[in-house]
Amino acid sequence: MSYLVKNYNRKKISFFRGKGSYLFSTNGKKYLDFVQGIAVNSLGHANPKLVQVLKNQSKKIWHVSNAFIIPEGEMLAKKIAKKTFADFVMFQNSGAEATEAAIKCARRYFYSIGKPEKNKILCVKNSFHGRTIAAIHASGSKKMTEGFGPKVKGFDHFVFGDHKSFLNKITKNTAAIMIETIMGEGGIKVVPDWCLKEIRKICDKKKILLILDEVQCGIGRTGDFFAFEKSKVKPDIVPIAKGIGGGFPVGAVLMNKKVASAMTAGTHGTTFGGNPLAMSISNKVFDIISDKKFLKNVRLRSTYFHDELRKLKNKYPKIIDEIRGRGFLIGIKLVVDQTKFIKKLMDNRLLTIRAAENVVRVLPPLNVNKKEIDQAIKIIEVVCKTF
Ligand SMILES: Cc1ncc(COP(=O)(O)O)c(C=O)c1O
Repeated sequence: MSYLVKNYNRKKISFFRGKGSYLFSTNGKKYLDFVQGIAVNSLGHANPKLVQVLKNQSKKIWHVSNAFIIPEGEMLAKKIAKKTFADFVMFQNSGAEATEAAIKCARRYFYSIGKPEKNKILCVKNSFHGRTIAAIHASGSKKMTEGFGPKVKGFDHFVFGDHKSFLNKITKNTAAIMIETIMGEGGIKVVPDWCLKEIRKICDKKKILLILDEVQCGIGRTGDFFAFEKSKVKPDIVPIAKGIGGGFPVGAVLMNKKVASAMTAGTHGTTFGGNPLAMSISNKVFDIISDKKFLKNVRLRSTYFHDELRKLKNKYPKIIDEIRGRGFLIGIKLVVDQTKFIKKLMDNRLLTIRAAENVVRVLPPLNVNKKEIDQAIKIIEVVCKTF
């Protein structure tokens, strides 16, 4: 009997230890973990460098209120500002909190310049920005909002890939466009670079802010620190989470100077966000992942993985329909049943996770090695053969 609320359909398995790309279950099995807590353990399980930081910091100080200066957070914000588009950073605890705060920043900006009527956020229908009341309405999916009325106003939606629907939904009240640079839960759908550029142009022309949700696709996952970097587009606001904590709950909203100027004292706050324990770990994660050599390696290894997966797709066209994604944010769109395929992968000791559109999501740690990729490819082929 479990006393946990049944809001998850949990698989009947649990793990007592993790090391790098592997998980060890309580029933004595070793799994290749290509879920990594859904793109969270960016440096694998129990990364020794992170363990060391955690140990050291835990003996010094865990938590103080944001009412005081937190040097570890100051340090990380400075590093982020020096290395990315951002001028300022506001730390949170999770992705949903970061997207919510991003929405607040956009609205507050227009309020601060005397245009409070510009308060609507334009999002992709059936996207994913988290599970809070505002975030589910931002996502605009019936499945997520059903039963959680009344509807939260202030969100409009357009259809992914439909330029006309996008243009039609922009009004004089639109404050911001919020999109995932690569849709994760929605089926690993990449917004092409030319499209991001076009969206930026429209935002500039119509004086709309651009929010790029990089909670899942950011922090080195695509081989660039942010997925949008390849397009050379500069967003105004970027919520992040997942990979930046390497397994410790951390979220943040990154923003440019003009947006940050609206977030004066008292406009937003958090008890836990940016505490010394979270920040010391996150500093280490940032140092490792933002390193050029590390990112180059992500690009090399992930290109190899994509090439091998494409070979499988060509060999088994009746099983695999398409290989999607970029870097280590990979989607295998299937012809056959997704649930059965994922179960068979798991029976063969490879952990993956579903996404919409019959896609199997594959999210190895960013420091995965070639041998582990080869092992995954072998297992995927074994499963293809069983269909
Ligand atoms: C793009 C995106 N935004 C926001 C979230 C919400 O993050 P969290 O689950 O940490 O609240 C997620 C989580 O999957 C996500 O993929």
